[in-house]
Amino acid sequence: MIIELNDLWRIYQIGDQTIEAVRGVSLKVESGEFVSIVGHSGSGKSTLLSMIGGLAKPTRGSVLIDGVDLWSRDDDYRSAVRNKKLGFVFQFASLIPTLTAIDNVVLPHMFNGAGAEPAAYEDAQQLLVRVGLSDKLGAYPNELSGGQQRRVAIARALVNRPVVILADEPTGDLDEQTETEVMDVLLKSAREYRAAFLVVTHNRTIAQSADRTLQLRNGGLA
Ligand SMILES: Nc1ncnc2c1ncn2[C@@H]1O[C@H](COP(=O)(O)OP(=O)(O)O)[C@@H](O)[C@H]1O
Ligand SMILES: [Mg+2]
Repeated sequence: MIIELNDLWRIYQIGDQTIEAVRGVSLKVESGEFVSIVGHSGSGKSTLLSMIGGLAKPTRGSVLIDGVDLWSRDDDYRSAVRNKKLGFVFQFASLIPTLTAIDNVVLPHMFNGAGAEPAAYEDAQQLLVRVGLSDKLGAYPNELSGGQQRRVAIARALVNRPVVILADEPTGDLDEQTETEVMDVLLKSAREYRAAFLVVTHNRTIAQSADRTLQLRNGGLA
């Protein structure tokens, strides 16, 4: 089992207000599985993905990635797991504005200590070719369209050949054509790496094409 969630909770305390964003989610996902996550705004989708991705600490419960209990380890260990095993595509492209496309994609290699090596750049270039940006290697984010920026973010998420790919509304603000292209790249890569692919989406066609659809309601699986 590549992902295992056991009674996962995330509770926010704001003043005297308690918000149970995620309430007791248990789940198992296998390698190669494509799972869509749907639910109204505020139902806890992003919070759930952040906990699986090692970005937000659960209030209670455990996240096992490839058998490793993510949140029982220290920050360094968690960062290493995140870098080696997880690819995260956020709702907005989240690129570094002062770096070119290829430098943005090489970035995860830097954290692996392979940043300056020509092989890292060759690999980043190959990934940018894969996402259809062979002519934009030297472009800065502000010289790219929204869809192109998203594709750079996808290439970056794929650098370490993740065994888990998490995508939070990766196509939310894109036109239909670009949306289809972005999803195709993600899906093809997930299949090729036999990665578990979890995608939060409002697009019914995408949701329905998944092996499995999870519905979140008020922080719980419906
Ligand atoms: N950092 C935060 N502080 C307080 N409340 C939060 C925070 N992040 C999310 N929430 C609340 O948790 C609930 C779930 O949010 P979220 O996971 O973003 O939902 P979704 O992604 O499904 O729209 C919402 O009620 C939201 O307001
Ligand atoms: Mg969200």
